[in-house]
Amino acid sequence: SRTAAVIPAAGRGVRLGPGAPKALRALNGTPMLVHAVRAMAASRAVSLVVVVAPPEGTAEVRSLLDEFPLGERTEVLVVPGGATRQESVRLGLAALPDDVTVVLVHDAARPLVPVDTVDAVAAAVRDGAPAVVPALPLADTVKQVEPREGGPEPVVATPDRARLRAVQTPQGFDRATLQEAHEKTVFDGEGATDDAGMVEQLGVEVVVVPGHEEAFKVTRPLDLVLAEAVLARRRA
Ligand code: C5P
Repeated sequence: SRTAAVIPAAGRGVRLGPGAPKALRALNGTPMLVHAVRAMAASRAVSLVVVVAPPEGTAEVRSLLDEFPLGERTEVLVVPGGATRQESVRLGLAALPDDVTVVLVHDAARPLVPVDTVDAVAAAVRDGAPAVVPALPLADTVKQVEPREGGPEPVVATPDRARLRAVQTPQGFDRATLQEAHEKTVFDGEGATDDAGMVEQLGVEVVVVPGHEEAFKVTRPLDLVLAEAVLARRRA
């Protein structure tokens, strides 16, 4: 019985501005994806990392990862991804060997997640939770709106902030549960943005463990500035 990490890294990252696929952008000279793979490999629980690459960029990602070798303890596979994050994760799961029983799904776009967070998620699954997500309370108040193009959007509701959590990755799963969720959830539009949401649809309980502020998602240009500042602070 092994624990594997699947890293969907096939997104184009349009919100970050023009340039290479997001996962291949550098943070302090090292591609974001390499930081993310190292973050998973840093956990003693993880012995296999499956990177889901842009379909046309699989060879490029493979050679990039070979430039930044990990310790011998961790095997790294690279497989081509799909049109949505959900499809990319499904393709990553399909590449797992039979002896993998626990799966962590981690966004390449969260390159700086601390090892303690990875360990806490993996341990909670190994202790019997079928689905575990790291999450933090919200700083902002959240409004639900009626989306409207080009005009002010009416507010529909203000959920109680104290009961909301912002969800991060890695999200950890019993492998069979996650695979069942991927088989049964129907695709529409963008697909699921979060694997735990698909498991919720099965009626299986998902639990939250504390996330970490350094597990933030690099989405917009300002996030690159923050990520490089976090790396500089770690080195200091
Ligand atoms: O776009 P977003 O930031 O939500 O993407 C989250 C993660 O899903 C990123 O790591 C991205 O590379 C990945 N993704 C993917 N395949 C897609 C779209 C996104 O692997 N088709």
